[in-house]
Amino acid sequence: KRIAILASGSGSNAEKIINYFENSESIQVDLLLTNNPQAGIIERGRRLGVPILIFDKKSFAKTDKIVEILQKQGIDWVILAGFLWLIPTNLVKAYPNKIINIHPALLPKYGGKGMWGHFVHEAVHANKDTESGITIHYVNENYDEGEVIFQAKCELIESDTPDDIAAKVQVLEHKHFPEVIEKLILA
Ligand code: GRF
Repeated sequence: KRIAILASGSGSNAEKIINYFENSESIQVDLLLTNNPQAGIIERGRRLGVPILIFDKKSFAKTDKIVEILQKQGIDWVILAGFLWLIPTNLVKAYPNKIINIHPALLPKYGGKGMWGHFVHEAVHANKDTESGITIHYVNENYDEGEVIFQAKCELIESDTPDDIAAKVQVLEHKHFPEVIEKLILA
């Protein structure tokens, strides 16, 4: 099975996924795509030898170009790993229940447009929550609203800063995302 990963940022989750499937007979990461020419994932793709495609808003949201590229490459699964744009309907429809996202919080809390990365951990911190975690879910046309596949929690203590929370959540992301993807694909 062939995976494409979309990311807008550093790409640490993408790297974990690539490494996890490095010696797999049945699953491989064939393509990385990003909307951000400055994204760290570009360097990671180069270092890991995975082709990376940089696209702009117009080609992503207004044309079928990305869907055509994915289909031409024989991509079976589309993984969002820190991708910040809404997925256009044509892509959702081309990959029904085959687009998976990870959100750095326990949805439905702290979800929706603009709730990503630091904003999420700031909000969790401001609310003095005693736990946070990750949510892996199917992607539909709305931010963070697809059916939940998996959640994992981490305990928070009084002294945790937003960065401490981010670090605890990232441990869960790196541990669980590749495993959950594998289970989904092999199911
Ligand atoms: C992670 O916090 C993930 O949960 C969220 O965006 C971040 C991506 O981090 N969707 P990275 O670019 O994989 O390091």
